[in-house]
Amino acid sequence: MRATISRSARHNQIMKYSTKTGSLSATRFGCLVASLKTARKTAAGIGAGKIFTAATTDFSDHLGQTLIVRLGSRSPLARIAVVGGLDKSVSAADFSKAVKAASSALKFIPGKNALWTLTATAVAKRDPYWKASTALSVLSNTFYSFNQHKTASAEVTAPTINAIGIHADERTKASVARAVRHAQALKTGLDWARDLGNEPPNVCTPSYLLREARKLAKDPKVSVSVLDEKRMAELNMGAFLAVSKGSETPGKMIIVRYLGARRRADAPIALVGKGITFDTGGISLKSPGAMDEMKFDMCGAACVLGATRAAIAARLPINIVTVVAAAENMPSGRATRPGDIVTSSSGRTIEIINTDAEGRLVLCDALTYVARYKPKAVVDVATLTGACIVALGSHASAVYANDDELARSLVAAGEFSGDRAWQMPLWDEYQPALKSPFADIVNSTTGGAGSIMAACFLSRFTEDLSWAHMDVAGSAFSGGANKGSTGRPVGLLYRYLIKEAGQ
Ligand code: BES
Ligand code: MN
Ligand code: ZN
Repeated sequence: MRATISRSARHNQIMKYSTKTGSLSATRFGCLVASLKTARKTAAGIGAGKIFTAATTDFSDHLGQTLIVRLGSRSPLARIAVVGGLDKSVSAADFSKAVKAASSALKFIPGKNALWTLTATAVAKRDPYWKASTALSVLSNTFYSFNQHKTASAEVTAPTINAIGIHADERTKASVARAVRHAQALKTGLDWARDLGNEPPNVCTPSYLLREARKLAKDPKVSVSVLDEKRMAELNMGAFLAVSKGSETPGKMIIVRYLGARRRADAPIALVGKGITFDTGGISLKSPGAMDEMKFDMCGAACVLGATRAAIAARLPINIVTVVAAAENMPSGRATRPGDIVTSSSGRTIEIINTDAEGRLVLCDALTYVARYKPKAVVDVATLTGACIVALGSHASAVYANDDELARSLVAAGEFSGDRAWQMPLWDEYQPALKSPFADIVNSTTGGAGSIMAACFLSRFTEDLSWAHMDVAGSAFSGGANKGSTGRPVGLLYRYLIKEAGQ
């Protein structure tokens, strides 16, 4: 008989973050996370100085080093996670490194809760809000797991910690509390985005994304609507429909509106996501190697939904309209052929050279559609090109924009949140390569600059908007041994929205 595992092992625990003040020696947490000095002082304070000194004689107090010290059953504090290299002022990058090490060390210790004291470390040019936010977003990512489809208990190891307190003093407690509130909201959006990305393509279809998005409408400030294929045909969305028509599962344009601003009439921020729930390439069929990873081709959609959910959970005083272009790209007797010409809802005609360049086809109709909301700014997020991975690898998302200020805001939000992005050129010189001998433009070009050319294609549909495009083909998911959705760039977008909301 097959062993079944408990629900809690399969589903993400609900992690509770809080702010704590007061003496560390009086703490009631199962584990204290601290620099060597703070750890030593606290251990001495509760009469465990000897055990602590004996356990840490060989500890090398450097960045990236951690040691779990078990204080013994008679101690009020069961464990201390000692984190190296933090008893002096450090750079933001080094602090992030130490936080990652500490977070990994904490993941599988026994116990229910931990108290995090690393916000006391001096970090060059960063305030307590950043230090707490950085710690919490790293913890959120580290403690995420996706075991929904596993039944063999032996293979499932889930963390037991479900509450983390961030220690603050009188001077820092207001900003730490704000970081805790923001991080708790981010966690809901980030986990959701990662779950949506990780679900297999036979589960996560366009209709599934719609059902998931509809859950947001439980909030009275949120409404969710959809354009089905019939409605999209009425709106002349020939580019979107050229992608979805090869599939048995119908495409959906999902629209989520959040009216959180004091004035309902305030221009919204628009987020648009590529939601290809599986990308076979269509008639321009992909090769089988790693084709399973094309279930992640809806990560842009998952990201904009996740960022929207985080913003809603944080009650950000801002209006948002989020549009998800959800479709499956399949080969079939009804599929689009290379050479077909279609008319987009903007009126522009497109010669489809390559049916594997489908993301830009669903996005161009979504971008045309979102203009009706007269948005203040539009940001689309898409796993758009393999060329983006060649250019930037996985560390940075690519940003393109027809508005440099918008690009700067996004890059800055990425820098702050540790979810980095890099601006790429969208120069006029690239545009002529989109010329078609038979239609207004082609959907695919040769001659290099693949990620830039995809952005150029989209720019033809956003001329009247303040618009940015993020190619997240390299950052939104990992392959190989750590295969899975990363949730990026939910952190970046959330920070951008927080700033837009004036918080
Ligand atoms: N979804 C892919 C891009 C992709 C590839 C994302 C690998 C993540 C990992 C996209 O639809 C695609 O197939 N793009 C083509 C465009 C080309 C035909 C112009 C590509 O990158 O090869
Ligand atoms: Mn493709
Ligand atoms: Zn694709």
